[in-house]
Amino acid sequence: MSIKIHDKEFRVMIPEEQIQKTIAAMANKMNNDLSGKDVIFIGILNGSFLFAADLMRHINLDSRITFLKVASYEGTTSTGTVKRLIGINEDLKGKTVVVLEDIVDTGNTMTSIVKQLNGYEPKEILIATMLLKPTVFKDQFKLDYVGEEIPDVFVVGYGLDYDGLGRNYQDIYSLAEKLSGNFFHNIILFGAPGSGKGTQAKMIIDKHNLVHLSTGDMLRAEIEANTKTGQEAKQLMKGGGLVTDELALRMIENKLMLNKGTSGFIFDGFPRTIEQAKGLDALMKRKGMEISVMLALRVDDKVLTDKLLERGKVGNRKDDTPEIIKNRLRIYHATTKQVGDYYKKQGKLIDVNGEDTVGNVFNVISRAINNL
Ligand code: XMP
Ligand code: MG
Repeated sequence: MSIKIHDKEFRVMIPEEQIQKTIAAMANKMNNDLSGKDVIFIGILNGSFLFAADLMRHINLDSRITFLKVASYEGTTSTGTVKRLIGINEDLKGKTVVVLEDIVDTGNTMTSIVKQLNGYEPKEILIATMLLKPTVFKDQFKLDYVGEEIPDVFVVGYGLDYDGLGRNYQDIYSLAEKLSGNFFHNIILFGAPGSGKGTQAKMIIDKHNLVHLSTGDMLRAEIEANTKTGQEAKQLMKGGGLVTDELALRMIENKLMLNKGTSGFIFDGFPRTIEQAKGLDALMKRKGMEISVMLALRVDDKVLTDKLLERGKVGNRKDDTPEIIKNRLRIYHATTKQVGDYYKKQGKLIDVNGEDTVGNVFNVISRAINNL
């Protein structure tokens, strides 16, 4: 679903149901953390009015709520001008203040809010934000409650506005901003475990100056950095589950936005299902980009199995055993076929004989890229 506000087009990024689920979880955590404290919630107007209202419906603490106003943003880029806090009538002395913000971007606004609130001698100040842009946040203070982490894109809806309009929507929308690279080669590299995909990916990136986009690596980095996304992913992966397509796509969007000037991306390990392929196509379209080609490294199962068994002997990966290898390959074929057919229908599938030497495979791939 897309909407138009003033001159710009926006598309749903976080649907209503998810917003509500997230807010309920935040409130639950607050109910646990803050029981017995003398709590006053302070909603920052105007953006947080819906967030504050929905959050409070789940709060079961004896607590107060009040609202303060600060205006700092005009249009779609931060003006950097942070204005004065207005409207403090309450006595904050000795109280636990929980600031409710719709969005923390660079964090400059919140820094100024906290500084001003400190003057009223509260016992402590906790910060709750519905949205956070971790890639632009300068990390000046601790965030106690974060709803959703989003890429560095301009968002509206659910309290957030674009020049005054858009606050009334139930969902959160992002600006359909186009990337402006002038020479996009967006390549999906597909290959079974053991097909030499990693080796080829590295060579392609070096020679063709593309940005490597591996969802596996990105997840590991998130977990390492202990971001909210990372914590979520860790939980999911611990239970043997996969991260949701939505989470994967949001990480990808983040990476796209961080590499605005590149000549292209190489997708490694994503998409693995038709749903993911469709999601990726939609995201690319929104950015004014598209997938150029899917290169599929074809290697016979027998060759792959032997190679993986060899690797199993020297390495210590528990999944390099005959039975598990068979299963991994079965799963791989089931999904590649789907995704392969999907891109074949678009005339974008190129099969590459992956059993040739590393150099020859690379030459074939390079030629394919140069012909794009
Ligand atoms: P800083 O950078 O100070 O910015 O953390 C925080 C304030 O800027 C506004 N803001 C936005 N408003 N969509 C909006 O509608 C956005 O994507 C956005 N990013 C920042 C917001 O008022 C917030 O309090
Ligand atoms: Mg605001």
